[in-house]
Amino acid sequence: MQVLVVYESMYGNTRHVAEAIARGMEERASVTLVTATDAREQDVSAYDLVVVGGPTHVHGMSRPSTRHSAVEAATQPGSDLELEPDAESDGVREFLAHLRPTTGVAAAFDTRLDASPVLTGRASKTIGKKLRKLGLTLIAEPESFLVDKQTVLEPREAERASQWGRALVGGQ
Ligand SMILES: Cc1cc2nc3c(=O)[nH]c(=O)nc-3n(C[C@H](O)[C@H](O)[C@H](O)COP(=O)(O)O)c2cc1C
Repeated sequence: MQVLVVYESMYGNTRHVAEAIARGMEERASVTLVTATDAREQDVSAYDLVVVGGPTHVHGMSRPSTRHSAVEAATQPGSDLELEPDAESDGVREFLAHLRPTTGVAAAFDTRLDASPVLTGRASKTIGKKLRKLGLTLIAEPESFLVDKQTVLEPREAERASQWGRALVGGQ
């Protein structure tokens, strides 16, 4: 089974989650893990499963203005936030906008603050909707993985992400 995992990450949490998802799949699948920027070179139709995730920004997927705000926050004096190498390049929104309609199966995830989703929003919901609109069938409910107020992944979220990945490819 060939799986493509596409992620966007400003501060590394969504990358950690994507890596954990990929680890969870490894026993049953061959996984290609790429950033949303690099994913443009991929032929999505060549994969048995496509998993797409990004951080929740302003209740949904990031956009250039929110990525810019994220960079500004990280470069404030006293900030502990470390930017990913391609933090300000294209994100999942742009990747999905360039994707041609296709068939196949997919799943969506996000990272977001650890609070009620009514308050935080969930990028994964929008990602899932876009994937469906492009013709893909979602094989799981969009899933969120949580960070705390300091933008640190909550304990056990990486393990939960691995389990989610394992389940996506039919593992226990
Ligand atoms: C500009 C900006 C807007 C954000 N808006 C939201 C939001 O609406 N809801 C939420 O739960 N988290 C929000 N966050 C927190 C992000 O979801 C969090 O930084 C992200 O999950 C961390 O993932 P990353 O380390 O991969 O960038 C926002 C963060 C930034 C920088």
